[in-house]
Amino acid sequence: MMLKDKAAVIYGAGGAIGGAAACAFASEGASVFLTGRHLAAVEAVAKEVVANGGSAEAAEVDALDEQAVDEHLQSVIDKVGRVDISFNAVGIPNAGLLGVPLVDLDAEQFALPITTHAMSYFLTARLAARRMVANKSGVIMTVTALHSRTGLPLVGGYGPAQALKEALTRDLSVELAPHGIRVVGLRPQAIPETGTIKDAFEPRAKATGMTWEQWQQMLASRTHPRRLMTLEEVANMAVFIASDKASGMTGTTVNLTMGSLDD
Ligand SMILES: NC(=O)c1ccc[n+]([C@@H]2O[C@H](COP(=O)([O-])OP(=O)(O)OC[C@H]3O[C@@H](n4cnc5c(N)ncnc54)[C@H](OP(=O)(O)O)[C@@H]3O)[C@@H](O)[C@H]2O)c1
Repeated sequence: MMLKDKAAVIYGAGGAIGGAAACAFASEGASVFLTGRHLAAVEAVAKEVVANGGSAEAAEVDALDEQAVDEHLQSVIDKVGRVDISFNAVGIPNAGLLGVPLVDLDAEQFALPITTHAMSYFLTARLAARRMVANKSGVIMTVTALHSRTGLPLVGGYGPAQALKEALTRDLSVELAPHGIRVVGLRPQAIPETGTIKDAFEPRAKATGMTWEQWQQMLASRTHPRRLMTLEEVANMAVFIASDKASGMTGTTVNLTMGSLDD
């Protein structure tokens, strides 16, 4: 068991990647503390974990509410004495964020992904780090996308938000690694089984006339294996990064784009 006796807090745990990571962490022995804006989705994941023999608790926590994040972390410390893994998988629906040329995008629309993705990462990482420093160990993780490193049309503030998060991963690491805390991001290619990718496709459908199948094929054709990624593959990599087997890895975002994006 790669995460035996670890305590993992997951933000956006009711979502596709957060939920898959929660199940994978728990199956490797971690106790998972699942949080999200809406309790029902998080509870469903917690139930799945418990049904599979794992340990999970669900809580309603808005990752942009500093006090709520802090109080939840304290409740985890009070219960198990430590936080070993902080995983931020927060995302917001793409509708309204994508599909508008930058010259026509209003400032609020531009700022929304930056606020949600980057600010929630900052708040959750900072508050977890304060607890991890006491144990001189911990892993802070998040998820970005290839928009951080390549120009893509009609993605509004999404690309800048991903780039900001990757910069923050490096900066958190350089300050925290001397205290035994690793900071590592995951940058997956599109995962077609998630709703996120389906709704990212909608504005492209309108702009290009491509079908859902054609769009997936186009994305897959840019990868070396000529296929897209599965949630299971992302979750497996998250387990490895969260584990002590990855002790040599910090200050970086793991490129899971399967060749779509060169290092
Ligand atoms: N799916 C992909 O193919 C893919 C590929 C590359 C990168 N990514 C990135 O990976 C991240 C997760 O993607 P996903 O597909 O798992 O998205 P998802 O299924 O939409 O899940 C995102 C989760 O974040 C939660 N959330 C939103 N705002 C929150 C807040 N303020 N506090 C707490 N929770 C909040 C949502 O909860 P509510 O629904 O209750 O608001 C939802 O459960 C996103 O940043 C996405 O851009 C995804």
